[in-house]
Amino acid sequence: MKLRELGRTGIFVTPLCLGTMTWGEQNTEAEAFAQLDHATGEGINFIDTAELYSTPGRPETQGSTETMIGNWLARRGRRDDLVIASKITGPGNDWIRGGVDMDAKQVVKALDMNLARLRTGHIDLYQLHWPNRRHYNFQKSWRFDPVGQDHAAIRDNLLEVLGALDEQVKAGKIRAIGVSNETAWGLMQYLRLSEINGLARMASIQNEYNLLRRQSDLDLAEVVAFEDVSFLAYSPLAAGLLTGKYLDDAMPAGTRGALGAMWRLNPQSDRATAAYVALARAHGLDPAQMALCWCLSRPFMTSVIIGATAMDQLRANIGAARMTLSAQVMAEIEKIHRQYPRTI
Ligand SMILES: NC(=O)c1ccc[n+]([C@@H]2O[C@H](COP(=O)([O-])OP(=O)(O)OC[C@H]3O[C@@H](n4cnc5c(N)ncnc54)[C@H](OP(=O)(O)O)[C@@H]3O)[C@@H](O)[C@H]2O)c1
Repeated sequence: MKLRELGRTGIFVTPLCLGTMTWGEQNTEAEAFAQLDHATGEGINFIDTAELYSTPGRPETQGSTETMIGNWLARRGRRDDLVIASKITGPGNDWIRGGVDMDAKQVVKALDMNLARLRTGHIDLYQLHWPNRRHYNFQKSWRFDPVGQDHAAIRDNLLEVLGALDEQVKAGKIRAIGVSNETAWGLMQYLRLSEINGLARMASIQNEYNLLRRQSDLDLAEVVAFEDVSFLAYSPLAAGLLTGKYLDDAMPAGTRGALGAMWRLNPQSDRATAAYVALARAHGLDPAQMALCWCLSRPFMTSVIIGATAMDQLRANIGAARMTLSAQVMAEIEKIHRQYPRTI
């Protein structure tokens, strides 16, 4: 796989990144090890995890995914050929550092625990999982409301967090920094604050992006292209929806849907999914591979974060990196998108 630069960091990552958030809930440590062995054997050098994982987030499993990766890294023995991305959790989960807002103190606290679980001296990409102000809020909010927002306090906090991250970069505990579930405004503020104050620069933004949720096509696509920030797409299969497994009210056992963590199901997303699945089948394609291959083809994409709960899923998903979609399929995808532009 041809490597791509993460922001302006000189760190190079594969166009596929291995997601990990099911490890510790839907997957055991042995399964996590098998996925890591297979994905790295296929050339993937980029692994994404978080303080919060596994998901759905709960106190009993928090940190379990990083612990598994740390155990695998210790067994593997080599560290420097991998780009390990992790995250500090945003506010709202009281079992994680009291659920408080991110600030300078919380960055230091969280990072030390990330490093201990991962059994490593440094994290290559450290991301803010979601902003304190939570506008984006996992697609739950539909509009920005300026009423009651303390603009000056927000900017002070962004600078404080950025300053804390910068110190950790200088201390060698982090190589690069990034945001997640962030808006174009938020990302631009960080870039501006870095420039004015000579602080570390956000190298990436990790947001949801898939055939059903293409909000980043406009504002963020422009920001990342012109500002040299890497776009990392999470949930490229809309949490499994785009495979078609939930169509016709199906709820296969053992899936994220059966776990009750599939809030994306609704009649509108079903209609769009049915159209994409029919398109894939009409062209002899696996719907999951078509969805991933399309994500990979986006002009502003740096890396697509794949997730799998079974080895056959992982093999199929990695296979998408070897495919290209015909002009006809791409045109049909655009037609379906115009019919179902947003399917929350
Ligand atoms: N920053 C954030 O807030 C955020 C949020 C979400 C995810 N992420 C990152 O992105 C990664 C991927 O997210 P995601 O798991 O939501 O990605 P996804 O690709 O949208 O969904 C993956 C899920 O779909 C099913 N699946 C995957 N491949 C399949 C295939 N070929 N055939 C049939 N079913 C298949 C599996 O679930 P079942 O087996 O249960 O059906 C799998 O766990 C995560 O691990 C995490 O690292 C970040």
